[in-house]
Amino acid sequence: MTKHGIAWWQAATGYQIYPRSFCDSNGDGIGDIPGIISKLDHLADLGVGFIWLSPVYASPMADNGYDIADYQAIAREFGTLEDMDNLIAEARARGIGIMMDLVVNHSSSDHDWFKRARASRTAPEHDYYIWRDGAADGGPPSDHRASFGGSAWTWEPAVGRFYLGHFSPGQPDLNWQNPALRREIYDMMNWWLDRGIAGFRMDVISLIGKDVDAGIYEEGPYLHGFLQEMHRETLAGRDIVTIGESWSVSTGTALLYCGRDRGELDMVFQFNHVTAFEDPEFGKFRPKPFDLIRFKQVLFDWQRALAEDGWNALFLSNHDLPRQVSKYGDDGRYRLQSAKALATAMHLMRGTPFIYQGEEIGMTNAAFTRIDQFRDVETLGHYADQTARGVPVADFLKGANANGRDNARTPMQWDAGPQAGFTTGTPWIEVNPNHATINVEADRADPDGIFAHYRRLIQLRREMPVIVTGDLHPMAADHPAVLAYTRTDSETRVAVVANLTGDPVDFDVPGAMEGDGICLIANYPPRAAIRGRITLRPYEAFALLQSAAP
Ligand code: GLC
Ligand code: CA
Repeated sequence: MTKHGIAWWQAATGYQIYPRSFCDSNGDGIGDIPGIISKLDHLADLGVGFIWLSPVYASPMADNGYDIADYQAIAREFGTLEDMDNLIAEARARGIGIMMDLVVNHSSSDHDWFKRARASRTAPEHDYYIWRDGAADGGPPSDHRASFGGSAWTWEPAVGRFYLGHFSPGQPDLNWQNPALRREIYDMMNWWLDRGIAGFRMDVISLIGKDVDAGIYEEGPYLHGFLQEMHRETLAGRDIVTIGESWSVSTGTALLYCGRDRGELDMVFQFNHVTAFEDPEFGKFRPKPFDLIRFKQVLFDWQRALAEDGWNALFLSNHDLPRQVSKYGDDGRYRLQSAKALATAMHLMRGTPFIYQGEEIGMTNAAFTRIDQFRDVETLGHYADQTARGVPVADFLKGANANGRDNARTPMQWDAGPQAGFTTGTPWIEVNPNHATINVEADRADPDGIFAHYRRLIQLRREMPVIVTGDLHPMAADHPAVLAYTRTDSETRVAVVANLTGDPVDFDVPGAMEGDGICLIANYPPRAAIRGRITLRPYEAFALLQSAAP
C-alpha cells in the first residue's frame, strides 16, 4: 500500500474459517474444501472481503493442521490441490480473497525434512531443526515447557540428541538460522502466492527469531531481520495482505512488525486484551475475573499506538479462544443484544475487523461435562499436567469450558436438522445441542438477527471512509459498564456507544459526543440524539452519524 492511500484490506472485513468444523461435503464428519465452496454465497451475502483459512495442508492433525507434513499438498480429508484452486477462483468470482495460514515456526514431525533430520546428524535437513545435547545428568537441555504440556525437548535416540518442540513433540521447531531452510520456505510461499491467494496469516510468527541458548523464545534478536528478508523474497510488490500472530507483541513493539516503512507485515494479531485476564501460573484454564475498564484500556491503548502508523486487527474470537458472546456477553437471556453490542463496539474501531465462523449468528461455547468430549491437544495436555499437580478434575473442566479452544471448534450450525446441517455422518467433535434454535437458517430469516447486524456493520465500513480512516477518540474511559468512542474526519463525526452489561445503566454523555444524529446501526429502537444523562438498556449499542466535527 502507499503511505497515504487506503489499501483494499483496510476497508474490508476478514472472516476466519476453521475448515474441520465449517461444512462437510461427503459425510465423513470432517469439514472440507468442497464444503467451504458450497457456502461461499453465505459469506458473499455477509459482505466479507477476504477469508483467513486455517491450515488445509497435508498433516497428521495432531494440532488440527497446525502441524504441517507437506506445505505444497492439501490434507486428504480436506480435498485436493484442484479443490483449493477452485476455492481460490470461486471466492475471487465473489470478490473474496483467500488468505492462507502460514505455519513456519514449526513443521509436523511427519514432514520429510524432519524424517531425514532425525535419522542422521549428517543429513542436510538435520540442521533445519533445533538440536541440543542433554544436560550433564542426561535429562533435557533446559526446563523449558511445551505449550501443550510436558517438556519442550524430546530425545531422539537415532542421533543421540534432543530436539525442540515449543508446542508439542509432534511440532518440532524449524531452525530459522539455516539459510537453506529459509530459501525453501520462501520458495513455497511464492508458489502459493503465484496461485492467486490474497495473503498470509502467519502463525506464532514472533517465535521465529528465538535464541534458544539465551532462553529467549518470543520476539528474539533475529525476528525482524527474518521478516524483512521474507518480505523482500516473497511479499514485496504484491497486492496482498499479511498479518502476524503474536502472543507477546505489545504496544511498544507492534510497529516493529507493521510500521509502514519497515517492509515486514501489514498487521499483527495481538492478545493483550485476552492475556490480561489469565492466571499467571495456570494460564487460560484458570481465568481471572473480567474487568471492563481494564479491557477498554488495552483496546484504546492499541488504537492510540497505531494511530499514525501501522494498522490494527480487530477481533475477540478465533479458533484458539472461547466464543465471544459467552466470554464477554451473555449467551442466555441477552444473547442477541450482547452479540450485536460486542460487534458494534469492535467493528467501528480503526482497523480491520475479523469475524470467526459462527460469530455472525452468535454461536456460543460448548458445555462439555466429560474430558472425553474434548478433542484439543492443548486441553488434553494441560489436563494431564494439571491433574498430576493435584488440580481437581471438576475445576479443570470448569476452566476448559470457560476458555478451552474446543469452544470455538464445535461444528458450524447451519440449520436445526440433524448435526446442525454440518454433516450427514458423525461429526469429529459434538455439535452444540443449541443448534435447534441457534443456526444460520433461523438467524438469517430474522430481519433483526445477528447476521443482519454484521452485514450492516460490514457495509458501513465499505461505504463510510470515516469508519476506515477517521481518528478514534476514547470516551468515558472510567465508566465501568459503557464502551464509547467517536470517530472523526474533517467532515464527519460518528458516536459509538455500547453498554456491555446486562443491567440498565446511566451514562453522562461526554460533551464531545453530544448532539443530534442519524442512527447508523442499533440493537434497540434507534435514538435521534444523545445529550445529558441517558439510560442505556441492557447491552444497548448504537452508532450515530453526527454533524460535522468542530
Ligand atoms: C497458533 C495457532 C494455534 C496453534 C499454535 C501452534 O497459536 O493459532 O491454533 O495451536 O499456533 O501452531
Ligand atoms: Ca468431509
